[in-house]
Amino acid sequence: MAPLTRARAGRERLPNDLMAEYYAQRASAGLIITEATVISEQGIGWVDSPGIYNDAQVTGWQKTTAALHAKGTPIVLQLWHCGRASHSSFHSSTPAVSASAIKLNGDYLHTPIGKQPYETPRALETAEVAAVVQDYRRAAERAKAAGFDGVEIHAANGYLIDQFLQSRTYLPNCPAGFRKTRSTVSSCATKNCLRVVTWFTRREATAGTMGARSRRQTAKHPSTSG
Ligand SMILES: Cc1cc2nc3c(=O)[nH]c(=O)nc-3n(C[C@H](O)[C@H](O)[C@H](O)COP(=O)(O)O)c2cc1C
Repeated sequence: MAPLTRARAGRERLPNDLMAEYYAQRASAGLIITEATVISEQGIGWVDSPGIYNDAQVTGWQKTTAALHAKGTPIVLQLWHCGRASHSSFHSSTPAVSASAIKLNGDYLHTPIGKQPYETPRALETAEVAAVVQDYRRAAERAKAAGFDGVEIHAANGYLIDQFLQSRTYLPNCPAGFRKTRSTVSSCATKNCLRVVTWFTRREATAGTMGARSRRQTAKHPSTSG
């Protein structure tokens, strides 16, 4: 089953009995990929979506993984960082972060204070990207502890990793004298840090019995849906 955001985890973003029941009802799909699940508070951008950044969320997800395993169905957790597809009201009135300070060209998004227009995000500093990588690593560790059979890194649909991968949402500060060609962009430190997300999370995942893959953008223009 493809990942489908359901937004049933409440303000604390705690996976609950309703979610375990929902996934167990769909066990006959054969393989379940969960709804996108935020790896950190910084990654939040959707009302009531679940998280995998604290111990209570690990315990909450164990209900779902146990229900699926009781039916013999593997389940993979989709790891999510919304980046600029978010709003300051999710982040104590500070801007959401992105690859560059470029506002999402969309009408509005649902936030804790109702429908709001998109805002200009703050570009992550290169040094901060390492902390995001660590958040992915910790999320993969927690997914393992919660009983998941694997993780999928959400790197599509206009979210943080996709924001780094698309030339119109990422205008890197390349070293002086370099032209901003695709190949130069690829050589920039920040983008390389993001590559490490996939590598690190895969390494973490495969250290146990868990698998990992990433969902990349296939459409020409990134959207923000799902
Ligand atoms: C309500 C809804 C929620 C979605 N949530 C997610 C999500 O959390 N993560 C994700 O990668 N894709 C999400 N998607 C995209 C779906 O996984 C899927 O790629 C899309 O519906 C196209 O599938 P189809 O070609 O079988 O229709 C969502 C789609 C819908 C309609």
